[in-house]
Amino acid sequence: MARIPEELVNSIRSQADIVDVVSDYVTLRRSGKNYMGLCPFHDEKTPSFSVNPERQIFHCFGCGKGGSVFTFLMEHENVTFVEAVHHIARRLHITIPETQGEREAGSEAESLARVTRFAARFFHDRLLNSDRESVVRQYAERRGLSEETIKSFGLGYAPDSWNDLLSAAREKGIGADWLVKAGLAKTGEQRTYDAFRKRLIFPIQAPSGRVVGFGGRALSDEDQPKYLNSPESPIYRKSQVLYGLYQARDALRRQGQALVVEGYMDLLGLHEQGIQGVVALCGTALTREQARLLARYGQQAYLVYDSDQAGVRATWRAIEPLVESGLWTRIVRLPEDYDPDSYVREHGPEGFMKLVEQADSLADFMGYHANLQAAGDRDEVFRTLAGLIRKTTNLVHREMYREEAERRFPALQGLLASELRHPTGPGGPGGSSTVGRDRHAPSAAPARDGDERVERDLVQLMLSDRTIAELVEGQLEPQDFKYPLYRRIVEQCLAGLGGENAYDLSGLIDTIGDEEAARVITELINTSDSGVHLEQRARDHIVRIKQKRLKESMARLMEQIKQMETGGRSSELNDAMATYMELKQQEKVLLRSARGD
Ligand code: UTP
Ligand code: MN
Repeated sequence: MARIPEELVNSIRSQADIVDVVSDYVTLRRSGKNYMGLCPFHDEKTPSFSVNPERQIFHCFGCGKGGSVFTFLMEHENVTFVEAVHHIARRLHITIPETQGEREAGSEAESLARVTRFAARFFHDRLLNSDRESVVRQYAERRGLSEETIKSFGLGYAPDSWNDLLSAAREKGIGADWLVKAGLAKTGEQRTYDAFRKRLIFPIQAPSGRVVGFGGRALSDEDQPKYLNSPESPIYRKSQVLYGLYQARDALRRQGQALVVEGYMDLLGLHEQGIQGVVALCGTALTREQARLLARYGQQAYLVYDSDQAGVRATWRAIEPLVESGLWTRIVRLPEDYDPDSYVREHGPEGFMKLVEQADSLADFMGYHANLQAAGDRDEVFRTLAGLIRKTTNLVHREMYREEAERRFPALQGLLASELRHPTGPGGPGGSSTVGRDRHAPSAAPARDGDERVERDLVQLMLSDRTIAELVEGQLEPQDFKYPLYRRIVEQCLAGLGGENAYDLSGLIDTIGDEEAARVITELINTSDSGVHLEQRARDHIVRIKQKRLKESMARLMEQIKQMETGGRSSELNDAMATYMELKQQEKVLLRSARGD
């Protein structure tokens, strides 16, 4: 098979989703930032195979295999690298050139990348070299764009000319046809001319930093449209790109939360005020792919759209993909006639962040915008909310969204829980769960000894993540839990794993039939953190509990051995000593496996 151009391999790699691909072969469950499943490369009963969507890699903690989406296919399907690339390309509907003609078309992506890189450089230089008095400099200054921002986002200027870009490109041997293909030039009846003229230019970058398209802001109100955007091209898929993601990546990883805004200028205005982790749409609605892209970097999304009608409508539509991708979703409500840019300019970063802190829950947002007096609307809100909450794959979020909704709409208590459990539409008396409702701010946490903390934390992890519950199922018995309360919860948790349905926490709470246990469950769910290394923490706890139980058995045995020694019963003594040594050996193996050697 022919060699595939590197540019194309990179493009395919950057569009592939390893979670999606691996899911064809392995059942994956989300676990913190990663996905876990049973390793397809070795025999195992508890999942140690992890897929990291942010870094797009897999790794098995059991057998040590790991790699990219391509190496996964090479190993699993026993194919060559080129075949693996073809496989992914087919999934993505990308054509890889085989014949001479196709090869030419295939190198189109490479050529387009070169053209956009050239144009980005051209526009940027024009802005940097324009003098203080020029229209574009004046405009940038009026919009509060600093030199730093201009440089980090590579902002540019498309001069007031019909062919500046075309001629500069020709000098570099880039033909007009290529500019047309990239959407940078247009062909009229007489001639071909520059598409972006007299505009402030925002280069749009893929997550890798490569420029794939442009947005251009008119410098005066007379010029229409206000914003001009590059069309889609073989390298620019609008549904898969977020403006500013490249610059926001590190902040997103660090702070875990993303602010999603509508406009280029909103993003840059926030950047000017030192607010990081912002991404913007480029004139399209937020897609599932974009939400999943964001979820690779952070765990929370705050939608900060304009307060006008169009903004509210766009917000409604953006919520679902975010919730579905497992992002904890909040909506920031700006006062009338503001957009993020104008608000932060007027109220400063503190003022803006205050709004972010007070962001609406899904239920708050719906309560604010729906007409709840009308019975029809009430049903509608209820159905929409239940539908959204059911979309999330994150069980902790599910419980938290539900609690919030019940706080906002007390009438939904019970109804919502039963709707989530048995999605049959609204109506009916619903469940009568009353647990956890009168839970006030937790009083000073009772002192717990180390053993209790370990059991409690492990139970909490089990509740927040089915994978961890399954891990415990393979490693411990309920009797291994010393505290009866946690033992009861673990019993119910493990029983709940048997069913086909989602690991249903509200069901668990209802079936446990034990006020205290139910209260503790809701408390644990609500205080669980979305920290990292959850899986490792669970493994550590399991080892510690196992070791503790072994030590207890050994201590009991040692007592008996001492009595036997004084009683002189030698055959029993020998047996007991052998058992003791065996336990000692088990402990050694346990600790060795915990260290991972
Ligand atoms: P807005 O009209 O809200 O603009 O469009 P804005 O962000 O407030 O910009 P300024 O402050 O007036 O400069 C928001 C986004 O919608 C897209 C652009 O991506 C813009 O950033 N849009 C808007 C277009 O694609 N075309 C348009 O004509 C207008
Ligand atoms: Mn604006």
